[in-house]
Amino acid sequence: MKLSTKHLLDIHNLSRKDINLIFKLTSHLKKKQMKNKQHSYLKYKTLALLFAKPSTRTRVSFEVGMTHLGGTSIDLAGDKMQLFKGRESIKDTASGLSRYVEAIVARLYSHLDLLELADHSTVPIINGLTDFNHPCQALTDLYTIEEKLGSLKNRHLVFVGDGSSNVCNSLIQACYKLGVKITVATPRYYHPHSAVMERTGHFAKVIDNAKEAVKDADVIYTDSWVSMGQEKDRTNKIRRLKGFQVNAKLLSYAPSQVMIMHCLPAHRGYEITDDVIDGPHSIVFDQAENRLHVQKAILVLLMK
Ligand code: CP
Ligand code: NVA
Repeated sequence: MKLSTKHLLDIHNLSRKDINLIFKLTSHLKKKQMKNKQHSYLKYKTLALLFAKPSTRTRVSFEVGMTHLGGTSIDLAGDKMQLFKGRESIKDTASGLSRYVEAIVARLYSHLDLLELADHSTVPIINGLTDFNHPCQALTDLYTIEEKLGSLKNRHLVFVGDGSSNVCNSLIQACYKLGVKITVATPRYYHPHSAVMERTGHFAKVIDNAKEAVKDADVIYTDSWVSMGQEKDRTNKIRRLKGFQVNAKLLSYAPSQVMIMHCLPAHRGYEITDDVIDGPHSIVFDQAENRLHVQKAILVLLMK
C-alpha cells in the first residue's frame, strides 16, 4: 500500500485512487483505535513538525498520531530552528533533517518555500498548511462528509466567506478529485487562486450571493476571514466579508438537514455566529477529530 507520490504537498498531486486509499486506511485505523487495538505500524520512526505559524489541531493530531502508531515526533516550532531565525537556508535544513527523521510535516508561510523544502528533502514532506493550501484539512473534510452522509455521490458543498483562503483552495481540489459539487460564495475581491481554478477546469461555481448558494447545500463550510499572515489587511477583509457570515439567517435559506463545517480556529461573531457553530447542524468537532485518523493514514502510507 503506497501513494503515487513521495510527498503530500497539494491535493493536485494525488490521484483519486490515492485519496480512496487514504480514506480506506483511515476507517481501518479509526476502528482499531476505537476498539483499543494496537496499531503500531511506525515503530522506531520519527516525525519532525516544522512549524513557522501557530497550530493546535495539526500539530497535536500529528503528534498523537505518531504516538498511536508506535513512533515519536519532535516539535520544531518557530523559535527553535536556525531556519526561522534566518541563520540557515531551507536547503540545508531539509538536508540536515533528512538524516535524522523519516518524515517532516511543515507549516510555512510561503508555498514556494514548501516546494523548495521538498526539493531538497530525501524524506517525505507533508504540507501542514501554507498561504496557498491545506491538503490534510480538505482530505479530512471530505472523509468526514462521506462518513456522515454515507456517500459523496451527488453532494453539494458550499463554501461561504474568504474564497481565496488556503482551505477553500484545497476544498476545491478535493471536491474536483472526488466529483463533489462545490460552490464558493465570496465577494469579487476574494476569488479562489487562479491556479486552482485552472487545474480543476473551473469546476467550482463562484458567486457573490450566499443565500442563493446555500439553497441546495448538503454542507455549508467557512474559514476565518483573516488568515495567519494577513493581519495587516484585517480591516479591509472584515469590511468586505461582512455579508458572508454563516449565521441563523443564512441557515434559514438552506435545507433543514444541512451540516455546518469549519476548519477551526473559529472567530465567533465574524465568519460564524455562536448559535450556528454550537448548534445542532454543526459537526466541527467530529471534523476536527478526524484530522487525527486521516493523518495517521497519511503517515502510514508515506512512512512505512
Ligand atoms: N484547522 C487547523 O489546521 O487548525 P490549527 O491551525 O490549529 O492546526
Ligand atoms: N485560513 C486559515 C486556516 C487555519 C487553519 C489560516 O491560514 O489562518
